[in-house]
Amino acid sequence: QSHLFLTSRYSNTSSPSTNVSSRKWVRVIVSQAMSYNLDVETLRDSEYGHLNGKTYLDHGGTTLYAKSLVQEFARDLLGNLYGNPHSASTPSAVAGHRVDAVREKALRFFGANPEHYDLIFVSNATAAIKLVTECVRDYINYENTKGKKKFWYGYHKDAHNSVVGVREHATTSRCFINDDEVEDWIRLGITGHSLDEVGLFAYPGQSNMTGRRLPLSWSARIRESSHGRTFTLLDAAALATTSPLDLSDPAASPDFVSVSFYKIFGFPDVGALIIRKAAGHLLERRRYFGGGTIDMVIAVGGTSHVKRDTSLHDQLEDGTLPFHSIFALDIAIDVHARLFTSMARISSHTAFLASYLYDNLQHLRHTNGSSLLRIYTDDASSYGNPILQGATIVFNVYTSEGKLIPCEFIEKLADNEGIYIRSGSLCNPGGIATYLGYTPQDLKRAFALGNRCSKPLSDIDGNPTGVVRVSLGAMSTRQDVDTLVSFLVAKVLPIKGRDLVRSDDPLLENLIAYDTVSLLEDAKLPSATKHVVVERGAMKSPEELSSSGKSRRLARLFKISRFKR
Ligand SMILES: Cc1ncc(COP(=O)(O)O)c(C=O)c1O
Repeated sequence: QSHLFLTSRYSNTSSPSTNVSSRKWVRVIVSQAMSYNLDVETLRDSEYGHLNGKTYLDHGGTTLYAKSLVQEFARDLLGNLYGNPHSASTPSAVAGHRVDAVREKALRFFGANPEHYDLIFVSNATAAIKLVTECVRDYINYENTKGKKKFWYGYHKDAHNSVVGVREHATTSRCFINDDEVEDWIRLGITGHSLDEVGLFAYPGQSNMTGRRLPLSWSARIRESSHGRTFTLLDAAALATTSPLDLSDPAASPDFVSVSFYKIFGFPDVGALIIRKAAGHLLERRRYFGGGTIDMVIAVGGTSHVKRDTSLHDQLEDGTLPFHSIFALDIAIDVHARLFTSMARISSHTAFLASYLYDNLQHLRHTNGSSLLRIYTDDASSYGNPILQGATIVFNVYTSEGKLIPCEFIEKLADNEGIYIRSGSLCNPGGIATYLGYTPQDLKRAFALGNRCSKPLSDIDGNPTGVVRVSLGAMSTRQDVDTLVSFLVAKVLPIKGRDLVRSDDPLLENLIAYDTVSLLEDAKLPSATKHVVVERGAMKSPEELSSSGKSRRLARLFKISRFKR
């Protein structure tokens, strides 16, 4: 049966040649995918021994480092003498030259020609986004000394918190709640901000919640439509994990790109801001200066300074770079290419696995026919098509009576079995609001009830506050997917509504969480004396919902959420 699900998504694939029948073509694709999967399984033994007996499915959090990377990095450090790149000694000069070489190598990894792009090493994607924000803020302030300028900021609803936060420095901001709004805005000539405003539009290449991939063509079209007045920031933190990011055409690429290398290679924990040099002037007015970014400073008896003007990275990289980590990046790029061949191979491998997973999850049903899972997908996405969808699946789990099994219970249960997934609101407020159907008022009420991003309530009136996220990576295999599906069938499918107990007593919270996990395993209810058991309003299944009366709110939630049945 699983073989059937394996091939089903590929059966619509059109033949590249009219001579080859589509069935044969499907067989070719599946056999190529299986052969690569076999290669990855072999790699797992030699390079990812730390994964033995474990099923790691949180590559959206971080992917995993290979043994060769760690060994070669250790050999590199032990076999060489490196000084601080800001010093002038021979070991320092060696380090400084190598940092520059890795900078160029990292640009080329993304197909970016150093003639047209610069790369600023930062600690992570968030730091890259924050750096753009601070620079634009200071650019606006500088322009204000010459006349009036304001900062208009637009972001797509799929954005991560780190992208949403930029709006706090903007004069005005707009959240685009779907692609159609963006398309209309581009078509109508970027309405909404005036000539005295500098615009910045930011969006993720891939939603870190649903894994949906957004149109990369927006950057060039926004530039054209706004006559260069609106700049673009592509947050590629999630996209670059399992997809090539091609910046070979500077005319078509975003002005600014944020990435976290640990999400691509597992190590080192370094990020980058990639800047299209043609947009670099926007970042040249930053007021703060740190060590290494300055040519002259008067600190005593005056306050003048002169910034370095040799390159954007000379101006923006404050203090000593994480140079040892940058050397690890050098090695990581080579090891990754040696192990996985190319990002394109990783992309098709993970697309294949995600499609296989999606097909299997979709078919998980209770004996009464109701679905075990509600999978949240965007209308524009399509599993198996790496242009539209990354290797991430999010869902919530329901009993046969339609009761929500809180996502953190699923995470704990899976963890007990050595399966590592993620649950919660995933730092994706727009996605959570849209797919789970929360209005701002609902979210405020949830907050008043004690719901926190860092410590969510398991549900609000039976509605989920978060989701379960499964994200695959370069070294994921079909076996990982099978293990997760078997776990859901064996351990989650049998859970009944009556097994779900809850406590409103915060002192008992941990105990309940722990005991509930074992309770679910044993399918036994806890003793009444030990637990405060409070049954709240049961979550209704979509079939039970009516669009009137008491169920109106829930009906609306389900409608907006577009739950997949
Ligand atoms: C799309 C996206 N943007 C930004 C971030 C933040 O990345 P970091 O924590 O490395 O700064 C993440 C992290 O998961 C992400 O997935």
